[in-house]
Amino acid sequence: MAELHAETVLRVHHWNETLFSFATSRDPAFRFRNGQFTMVGIEADGRPLLRAYSMASANYEEELEFFSIKVPNGPLTSRLKDIKPGDQVYIGRKPTGTLVLDALRPGSRLFLLGTGTGLAPFLSIIKDPETYDQFSQVILMHGCRNIADLAYQETIQSILPGNEWVGPQVRAQLIYVPTVTREPFSTNGRITELLESGAFLEQRGMPKLDVATDRVMLCGSPQFLADMQDFLTGRGFEDGGISNPGHFVIEKAFVEK
Ligand code: A2P
Repeated sequence: MAELHAETVLRVHHWNETLFSFATSRDPAFRFRNGQFTMVGIEADGRPLLRAYSMASANYEEELEFFSIKVPNGPLTSRLKDIKPGDQVYIGRKPTGTLVLDALRPGSRLFLLGTGTGLAPFLSIIKDPETYDQFSQVILMHGCRNIADLAYQETIQSILPGNEWVGPQVRAQLIYVPTVTREPFSTNGRITELLESGAFLEQRGMPKLDVATDRVMLCGSPQFLADMQDFLTGRGFEDGGISNPGHFVIEKAFVEK
């Protein structure tokens, strides 16, 4: 298991019945780019049981943080949800992924669009000063079924703006749009609907999505990604990767089969 490193669980936070986050120690040799994911898991029946998890912590932070769903009877998450401080988890040594700034062509607005736990990679990206150096405006949209699923609201709205290092950039350049589809909230509707109508951007005095200026990162359920991909390609946006930077990049959120 040379490709795995055992880390210690430091904190666990249960947001609700279906979502939780946990923080672990970090091997100083574990380096990653904000937006990447790695394999994370525990030992089960004598073998490591692993799934892909985006780092929700930034690459300059001492601890690692992950954001997870709890799938009833899910092989990993039904056990992982019971971890406690002091327990060991395995962290893969080879982070990877396409939700990195290098995979996008230069632009002025960056849209970070996530559903459910698809928020995770964007939490590290919005903590990265480089994000704000490369884009004048960063729009983070998080779509969930219910208000209780809108994890990290306090971090994004209150803690990060006060951060000594990135706080000034966050306050000046980050626009956070949480949206809920199954109960009344300040913003209602799927991310796809909100972008399609354009009214939502107009209300904020912002121009419609435009391939000339805008770049997009997507992370969420397969259906969300497929619909967003259609929406973007229909407007002239091209999919990118590190070897061929594009107008948008995609990553599937952790989904347990
Ligand atoms: P909805 O409640 O209308 O299904 P899930 O928990 O199923 O992953 O959904 C998380 C959020 O993503 C929900 O608000 C859900 O809306 C929304 N969603 C699901 N499918 C799509 C899609 N194809 N396009 C845009 N949003 C979607």
